[in-house]
Amino acid sequence: MSYTRMTAAEAAGLIKDGEILGLSGFTPAGSPKAVTAALAVLAAERHARGEHFQVGIITGASTGDSCDGALARTDSISFRAPYTTNVDFRKAVNSGKIHYTDIHLSQVAQRLRSGFLGHVTTAIIEACELTEDGRIYLTAAGGISPTIARLADRIIIELNAAHSKRMIGMHDLYEMERPPHRRPLPIVRPSDRIGQTYIQADPKKIVGVVEVDLPDEARKFQAPDPITDKIGQNVADFLAADLKRGIIPSSFLPLQSGVGNIANAVLGALGRDTSIPPFEMYTEVIQNSVIKLIQEGRIRFGSTCSLTVTNDCLQDIYENMDFFRDKLVLRPSEISNCPEVVRRMGVISMNTAIEADIYGNVNSTHICGTKMMNGIGGSGDFTRSAYISIFTCPSTAKGGCISSIVPMVSHQDHSEHSVNVIITEQGVADLRGKSPMERAKIIIENCAHPDYKQLLWDYLKISTKGQTSHCLSAAFGMHQVFLDKGDMRLTEWGMFR
Ligand code: COA
Repeated sequence: MSYTRMTAAEAAGLIKDGEILGLSGFTPAGSPKAVTAALAVLAAERHARGEHFQVGIITGASTGDSCDGALARTDSISFRAPYTTNVDFRKAVNSGKIHYTDIHLSQVAQRLRSGFLGHVTTAIIEACELTEDGRIYLTAAGGISPTIARLADRIIIELNAAHSKRMIGMHDLYEMERPPHRRPLPIVRPSDRIGQTYIQADPKKIVGVVEVDLPDEARKFQAPDPITDKIGQNVADFLAADLKRGIIPSSFLPLQSGVGNIANAVLGALGRDTSIPPFEMYTEVIQNSVIKLIQEGRIRFGSTCSLTVTNDCLQDIYENMDFFRDKLVLRPSEISNCPEVVRRMGVISMNTAIEADIYGNVNSTHICGTKMMNGIGGSGDFTRSAYISIFTCPSTAKGGCISSIVPMVSHQDHSEHSVNVIITEQGVADLRGKSPMERAKIIIENCAHPDYKQLLWDYLKISTKGQTSHCLSAAFGMHQVFLDKGDMRLTEWGMFR
């Protein structure tokens, strides 16, 4: 079958008001870029004519500015799920313009299959190759592409020459069955493969192919600084000690590492610490630091959902595919983040917190309890099922005006029951086997910044004793002082009692 070639604008013109779009990709890696940007232009024209035009968006994770940014700026998104990192999208969400459903990334495909998220009408999938019989070869991510390709009424392919065809073979694509009686996933090592290297779509559903040459809209990483380096070293020292004690087997365990600058720096530090043997990753994003460590032989294998790397790093992978081919696999998010596999393989999870409280509850998503930052991403998929779950963060944010350790988290994504270890540049709080009051002491002593330690001790003094001591009228006092005065250090507990 020969497909209809069309421009991005023509493809966008096929999309009607009120549709639900399913998009390939996971982070800007592998996300469509041309059709969504053209759709934003089209939407703005329709709005100018007084017409209503909005779509729902369901993705693997975040996308680039040509999707979330362009569509948010033109007021073209009615609802969206899941994770996103775009600044303009964030503004639209926090001003109540977009309904944003923040769900665990491993659950997106299942929720789509089960009809929780409505019916995907159009799937827009970035590919590096497409065959006449409907085989779609994906680019830098697995995401939810197998599921949207099957469920959608029609498929638009962005055939992107910026991605090398050498990507063919890198993916392991498998879609879970609907319950009951779903078969277990036979993955016992990060390198195990269970699926196909392509998506087999119905060629009749492929209504258009848009040829583009557009690199991924990768974000640059900030260079590690003394604080992120110290956090990384603290993580490495903690894991090395657990290895020495036999808590971690001598062959080590697969690691998961979250998104962002801190996670990138933590992995860099882990790689440098040779008391930790070469290890494997079972994770959802592979960032630049992992690629470097694979090249150095410090990481033996990486199972991931996406290559969230800078464009020069991605080109380096394409140019050295013979080296990388047996060291990387790209999976759909429901497999890369599958809690059952994570639990069984003993994955050690390392994610970044926005704030943690003195009892070990973690907020990954909301600033001062109300404003969405990015979303929970895969942090819950991994944390709840990890062999050891670690959260890292600098002890303060915004130049020291915010303490990342607070009496009570202003929004809770991960509870004390799932969080094993909190690590800041100040030190390590190993919470395993500890009661809430024991945890409070270790977290304040080892993780809080010196500017905030006394304030947190004083909070405990004014708290009503219990299994978990609190003073409910003061629990968010530090947050309130930040909102009122711009600096948590100005908190006086007397104000709240
Ligand atoms: N209060 C207010 N702002 C805070 C804050 C706090 N307690 N903690 C961090 N921030 C701000 C930082 O100041 C920074 O702001 P800026 O962008 O204006 O500079 C921003 O949050 C990002 O923080 P940064 O220190 O650069 O860390 P990061 O890039 O590693 O991102 C998260 C940290 C938590 C936002 C990010 O890891 C995330 O979205 N996590 C949730 C999803 C997840 O864990 N996925 C893991 C599976 S891959």
